[in-house]
Amino acid sequence: MSKSETSLDDIVSLAKRRGFIYQGSEVYGGLAGTWDYGPLGVQLKRNIMQLWWKMFVDERDDMLGVDAAILMNQKVWQASGHTETFTDPLVECSNCHSRFRADKIDTSKCPTCGKTGTFGEPRQFNMMFKTQVGPTWMGWETDDGNYIIGKPQTVNAKGEGISSLTIPEDRKFSGLITYDKNAQSYLRPETAQGIFTNYKNIVDSFYPDMPFGLAQQGKAFRNEISPRDFIFRSREFELMEIEYFVHPDNWEAAFEIWRKAVWEWTRALGLPKNMVHELEVPADDRAHYSKRTVDFEFDFPIGREELLGLAYRTDFDLQNIQRVSGKNMEYRPKDGTPAFVPHVIEPSFGVERAVMAVLSAAYTEDEMNGEKRVFLKLPKHLAPVKVAVSPLLKNKPELVAKAREVYQMLKKELGQVVWDDNGNIGKRYRRQDEIGTPYCVTVDFQTLEDSTVTIRDRDTATQKRINIDDLRKEIT
Ligand code: GAP
Repeated sequence: MSKSETSLDDIVSLAKRRGFIYQGSEVYGGLAGTWDYGPLGVQLKRNIMQLWWKMFVDERDDMLGVDAAILMNQKVWQASGHTETFTDPLVECSNCHSRFRADKIDTSKCPTCGKTGTFGEPRQFNMMFKTQVGPTWMGWETDDGNYIIGKPQTVNAKGEGISSLTIPEDRKFSGLITYDKNAQSYLRPETAQGIFTNYKNIVDSFYPDMPFGLAQQGKAFRNEISPRDFIFRSREFELMEIEYFVHPDNWEAAFEIWRKAVWEWTRALGLPKNMVHELEVPADDRAHYSKRTVDFEFDFPIGREELLGLAYRTDFDLQNIQRVSGKNMEYRPKDGTPAFVPHVIEPSFGVERAVMAVLSAAYTEDEMNGEKRVFLKLPKHLAPVKVAVSPLLKNKPELVAKAREVYQMLKKELGQVVWDDNGNIGKRYRRQDEIGTPYCVTVDFQTLEDSTVTIRDRDTATQKRINIDDLRKEIT
């Protein structure tokens, strides 16, 4: 089966059946754009995130890590431009009232009801989730943008009483809300701002050599107009971001270096080179902060779409922080040359997109002993289970005891090891193949005599005998 024949349904159904990823709040009918990771999914996701941290923080001299709070002072989002410009164009069908992102559909015809000419002009919809910090007063938001607290006083957005009224029975309110302008906050739509707001702290504490980068992993939230395509466009997702600070004269060289590093990352994920493509994003499509963006796209089962982005953010963010906070964001070079506000190269990696790309690239169907076999050809270092250990027969106590010994030994050393004694050996192999386990180890009667076991390779289905002492070396 070629990669182009793998459908999104194949991936979604395997992910659910085998405990990788479930619909969020599924038991209550779900919540659009949210997904829950099961035991295998969380391990795969962690393996990806840990690999990223190892490659981009642990193994480099020019990178430091950060873990900033998700909730931030509202001034962060005002200064960064997100409250004004973090929007997508929204259109609503006047016939069936379905809502869409105008740039993702052909607006001449409604994709839901099929009527033509039912969309008006797009309006800009801000994608940030608003929330309130601390106790706030409660009230009703009215159609005209004011708030009613208790009865019968109307207040404006600042909480000042502007009139008294009796609420007519049929008056429509958009709902009970809590409101306090000063307590307004947002669930962060990108992790980057948690890095920019700590840039000065880190320069003061560590005074790193220029250029240097700060890396962060964590949740981000976007109130997407139409979340879709499994985890591809979610409302809650995980980001891994790097802000790399450079002298303004050196941004182009740094951009090229990061471009190569991103390619290395796609290789480490096991993504075939011919399925990854660069897209130079035209000026009109770039984010408000970017002077150059290259998107790395991947041939997902849904088509060629963005996997991650590499942007030149200039000094946009640090200049904004300097302007709004009044604090100096300049870097003072150690060689005594003039101080400057650094410019920034930002590689930004979505974890869900990486998980989906890895699953799509790994999904394989072949034929074995005349039967169709589905297996995940995951890179060993990403597989959620590294090895499954079985006794040949589960009703032979001496085999079970020896197999348990091998299992405990591997579990202690590798962690991601499972015990599997269900069904016959053939069925165990199929089950492990389907979740991408690279090796299955079986303890049989010969093991009791010479301390050798059979080890079976997922991709070739070949088996060989090796000594228990050599297992670790063979597997890692
Ligand atoms: N700080 C830069 C930034 O946030 P972005 O292109 O908006 O840039 C970065 O997002 C990456 O986050 C994307 O390349 C993609 O991998 C991922 N991403 C964005 N929106 C997403 C969504 N709704 N669901 C899942 N991943 C998303």
